[in-house]
Amino acid sequence: PDTAIIVVAAGSGTRLDAGAPKAFVGIDSHSILRHALDGVFAASPAQVIVVAPAGFEGDAETELRAAAGDRVDLGRVVTGGDTRQRSVAAGLDALWGDVTRVLVHDAARALTPPEVIDAVAAAVDEATGVIPTLPVIDTLKRVDGDAVVGPIDRSELAAAQTPQGFPRALLESAYEAALTAGVDHTDDAALFAAAGHRVRQIAGSARGFKITTPADLERARHMLAAVSE
Ligand code: C5P
Repeated sequence: PDTAIIVVAAGSGTRLDAGAPKAFVGIDSHSILRHALDGVFAASPAQVIVVAPAGFEGDAETELRAAAGDRVDLGRVVTGGDTRQRSVAAGLDALWGDVTRVLVHDAARALTPPEVIDAVAAAVDEATGVIPTLPVIDTLKRVDGDAVVGPIDRSELAAAQTPQGFPRALLESAYEAALTAGVDHTDDAALFAAAGHRVRQIAGSARGFKITTPADLERARHMLAAVSE
């Protein structure tokens, strides 16, 4: 395939407080990582790099094999780093073959529909990055300490999800530039834009929310239960 999907799953998940790295916490009988990989393998065939926490590579391999089915040759597990950016960089280093397009996906967005993954991949061209977004629903304020300084026009804002898709060559050089500059971005689109490249948005999905807190895990459980009823 000319597309690779880097699934970053090396976070510690301290905000989830579930006693294991977040990707290995169960939603139902399956872990967050397994659900994320089920979505990835339900999308069009792509090379899949799972970036695992150090010490959990074997567990990640098990989840990869279970999700991949007959596409297991397209998958590979590598060890992550201590920031998300370092984990993505480890994933980029593990790409093989003639991949021209890279999607970076948070394992924590475990219920992201395969349609969103395919739509992002389809929208990437040789010069442009693509991210799925949702409109901002909350009323937002600019604050300074306890002072509310002013309103923010939410029509100018969007909430970013993953997978975020990029042309491989430009993403790799943008990662090198961030490394040289010593900047740590928490978002690949920001890193890509910092290198001077254009990023477009397409429609995300409510199911693409990031599981961060125990309440998010509950929300994911409810969504899965609603589907199987
Ligand atoms: O912490 P947060 O939920 O924002 O992390 C987003 C994604 O990045 C998660 O899927 C997490 O596993 C991954 N991550 C990583 N390596 C890190 C930190 C986060 O792969 N050092």
